[in-house]
Amino acid sequence: MKRIGVLTGGGDAPGLNAVIRAVVKTATNDYGCHVLGIKNGYDGFTMPGGVFPLTAADVRGILPRGGTILGTANRGNPYARKVIVNGKEEVIDVSSDIVQAIKDQKLDALIVIGGDGTLRFAHDMFLRGIPVVGVPKTIDNDIHGTEVSFGFDTALNIATEAIDRLHTTAESHQRAMIIELMGRDAGFITLHSGVAGGADVILIPEIPFKLETVARKVLERRAHGSSFSILAVSEGARPIDGEVTYNRPGDQVFVPRLGGIGQKVGEYLESAGIETRVTVLGHVQRGGTPSAFDRWLATRYGSSAVRVAAQKHFDRMVALMNGMITDIPLLDAIAIPKRVDVNGDAVMTARGIGISFGNE
Ligand code: F6P
Repeated sequence: MKRIGVLTGGGDAPGLNAVIRAVVKTATNDYGCHVLGIKNGYDGFTMPGGVFPLTAADVRGILPRGGTILGTANRGNPYARKVIVNGKEEVIDVSSDIVQAIKDQKLDALIVIGGDGTLRFAHDMFLRGIPVVGVPKTIDNDIHGTEVSFGFDTALNIATEAIDRLHTTAESHQRAMIIELMGRDAGFITLHSGVAGGADVILIPEIPFKLETVARKVLERRAHGSSFSILAVSEGARPIDGEVTYNRPGDQVFVPRLGGIGQKVGEYLESAGIETRVTVLGHVQRGGTPSAFDRWLATRYGSSAVRVAAQKHFDRMVALMNGMITDIPLLDAIAIPKRVDVNGDAVMTARGIGISFGNE
């Protein structure tokens, strides 16, 4: 192994720089390998100066830094890219151009750090002749085949701290406080931070809820002397008889943008006579320094990905299983998305300590 590339794709997550650093250090120290950084996800392969040498000096000091020194791209998928042709917008498939540009780089391996979309394209690239190894990244923790993706722990800590802060002001004003949290179609951030932060109601995509049940829970708490309530609501949660709420619809190129369910629940509570405020935590969950756990996990993932590449085990993704790093076929990781097990111990525990999921 003489020459490897590394890229970060999709939305950023705390710990990306820790993976990049581990890849560069392991590849240079253990294998005497040249590492190339790719700018802005796969786009870097087709842009001038988008592929550049990455040395140990370039990764010095980046371990605690959020974001990604390589840049990333969330511009829709390579099969449907918006471009301007003769002054007019067109949607074209640029995947073959990217695959050819990667082949031109004559890489012995390409390490792709990304979520489901980025890893899906990585698998497709393997089928088209590119030696890829994947690293699971997402704050949503929705990648199958790994216990946890890096970024999740940091997002969880940020969400928990926000819930703690809402608690004190909720109590002072005897209000219901709603916090809308990220996670797309998976409720892990909301469930875990809701339990860790002592929420009274947790609404997640996996368990559709009834607005009346949510209001009843808040009113019952009042009747029992708790004048405030905390509601942790996933951006992807929806009422049993309703739809998911988007603040921007999707199209051929972009996935729909989730957001607004917290406001809807808040309006319902207000109509039921409950003074309510809504906080949308948003991208704060993805920003800033990674937690110690994420730095540790990201470093292990980055280093292992280089070893997997050195063994020529391509079309695989490094994963955490039973606390150990292993690697699994990329296809297994992308085939089924990971979701909260509605009958699992986490949901049972939450119910057991009196948290309502708003469905009964
Ligand atoms: O997948 C990570 C995530 O932060 C989701 O939780 C959220 O729905 C989405 O990305 C937001 O994407 P963007 O950064 O494009 O607004």
